[in-house]
Amino acid sequence: MATDAQTNMAAEIETHELDVLVIGAGGAGLRAAVEAHGRGVKTGVVCKSLLGKAHTVMAEGGMAAALRNVYPEDNWQVHFRDTMRGGKMLNNWRMAQIHAQEAPDRVNELEDWGALFDRTPDGRILQRDFGGHRYARLAHVGDRTGLELIRTLQQRSVARGVEVYMECTIFQLLTSDGKVSGALGYWRETGRFVLFKAKAIVIATGGSGRCFKITSNSWECTGDGHALALRAGADLMDMEFFQFHPTGMVWPLSVRGLLVTEGVRGDGGTLRNGTGHRFMFDYIPAMFQAETADTEEEADAWYDDHAGNRRTPDLLPRDEVARSINSEVKAGRGSPHGGVFLDIASRRSADYIRRRLPSMYHQFMELAGVDITKDPMEVAPTAHYMMGGIRVDADSTAATVPGLFAAGEAAAGLHGSNRLGGNSLSDLVVFGRRAGVAATEYAEGREGAVAVDGGDVAEACAQALSAFEREEGENPYTLHRELQEAMHSLVGIIRTQSEIDQAIDKIGELKERSGNISVEGNRAYNPGWNLTMDLVSMLTVSEAIARSALARRESRGGHTRDDFPGPDPGFGKINHVVRRADDGTISVTPEPLPEMPAELRALFDE
Ligand code: FUM
Repeated sequence: MATDAQTNMAAEIETHELDVLVIGAGGAGLRAAVEAHGRGVKTGVVCKSLLGKAHTVMAEGGMAAALRNVYPEDNWQVHFRDTMRGGKMLNNWRMAQIHAQEAPDRVNELEDWGALFDRTPDGRILQRDFGGHRYARLAHVGDRTGLELIRTLQQRSVARGVEVYMECTIFQLLTSDGKVSGALGYWRETGRFVLFKAKAIVIATGGSGRCFKITSNSWECTGDGHALALRAGADLMDMEFFQFHPTGMVWPLSVRGLLVTEGVRGDGGTLRNGTGHRFMFDYIPAMFQAETADTEEEADAWYDDHAGNRRTPDLLPRDEVARSINSEVKAGRGSPHGGVFLDIASRRSADYIRRRLPSMYHQFMELAGVDITKDPMEVAPTAHYMMGGIRVDADSTAATVPGLFAAGEAAAGLHGSNRLGGNSLSDLVVFGRRAGVAATEYAEGREGAVAVDGGDVAEACAQALSAFEREEGENPYTLHRELQEAMHSLVGIIRTQSEIDQAIDKIGELKERSGNISVEGNRAYNPGWNLTMDLVSMLTVSEAIARSALARRESRGGHTRDDFPGPDPGFGKINHVVRRADDGTISVTPEPLPEMPAELRALFDE
């Protein structure tokens, strides 16, 4: 029960009342907001950064959808099958089905809303090759597809009058009677608190790559949505599956990890080790042998004119390629800066490269002084994407706390243990739209005004400010660096029990030390305080990743255990559900995968 002082304090905080609050203004958040607003409910979007700067803009190569513009033989069933195989069959089959079926409509809708895609010679949306996709399937805009997606959705949101609250970080979800009732945040500019009361909340906060030392993720990707949901009582799922994109920049050090789009390989780029050998031919797994070329000649024929249909092993799913690069570097066959070479110059003309991959051309020219129309790039794996996340209902995106919904990278299920490139952008719009529909329906069915408990608000605010009251405490930057180092070296691309145990101990130690952080100055644009707040999320998410990784004693997709090198059929039948007890303890429980209906199972017999 809140005291009078707490109730008064809560009443003084700037407050907004909404039907649907969307947290995150990337592709999923904006698509959810457009949908909810269009259905007539009072909708607001909160974003940590400025509108238009969400991490979605860094998605480069394209958006997967069986449009059949380049390959008429493509269809949703093949896309569904590719997605499930890429995820090593741990995907939620229903999400994979919905995604494959609805992605074409969502791409066409974006075009109707003004997105300008690259075109086929006869004027339809062009599609490019990406790893693990049977057919060229990625609608794209050069290598700036995410930017175009955000530009389109942002324009539509603003034009339609969706409320946008920028540079605002949400740090606590509020519940009453077991249902979501609001969210508490602070403005980066002033550090002042802001309260959003809402009948339904959609979490679309993206990923958590900043837990790792080398990542393609921007500063916002601190796993806030995962941690907020878990602390509000929602389940997370499959947190051990973290994708290391095979190709991030390795040099110069200041941009280590920056994404080098898979579109380079989709458009003809090949991987070579330090000795010049095309090593991917040495790493073709049995599951993909039938459809993968096993000689350079065969792969080149596929690349040059798609003669034959056995694809190049450079375009195996990301988990396979990332592990192969890692092995080459470990074996001492890497490039000078600890990666491998990615070469497109010897296959494509300078004009083609500049037209198809303009961002890559500029990125390497300006940051590394490398002209990719003449010389190869140096690349190595980079922490890129969280396949796990908030456990949701496949059709409605509802989380396990009433009133809470999640879409995009914040949600688990669609990608199983490994996501295929290009399936993320289509995921955002397919499930962003569904989240908008379901959150609206939920809000419309909820009677009366939502209540928040003044005591919960006061307690969360006091906790948020506690670092200002300490002197001579821990430095948040030191803690973040130690966390990133531990996650990189102990729970990274290759894992073992003893290393994961060490990581769990280290995270425990950092959690304790984080209770003694002190920050200087005041609340306005205070990066040390902002990082202190983000660390709460990063430590929670890192612990969930490490505990789930410990429990999965097999290797599958984005989770490789050196001590259990192969897949285990038993683990192939379970998801890991992550829960948090009232005392903050995080537990991991196996639960059986939902059963796939016979007509979909039959697709794998072909
Ligand atoms: O490689 C890329 O362009 C990244 C795309 C994705 O992660 O889907």
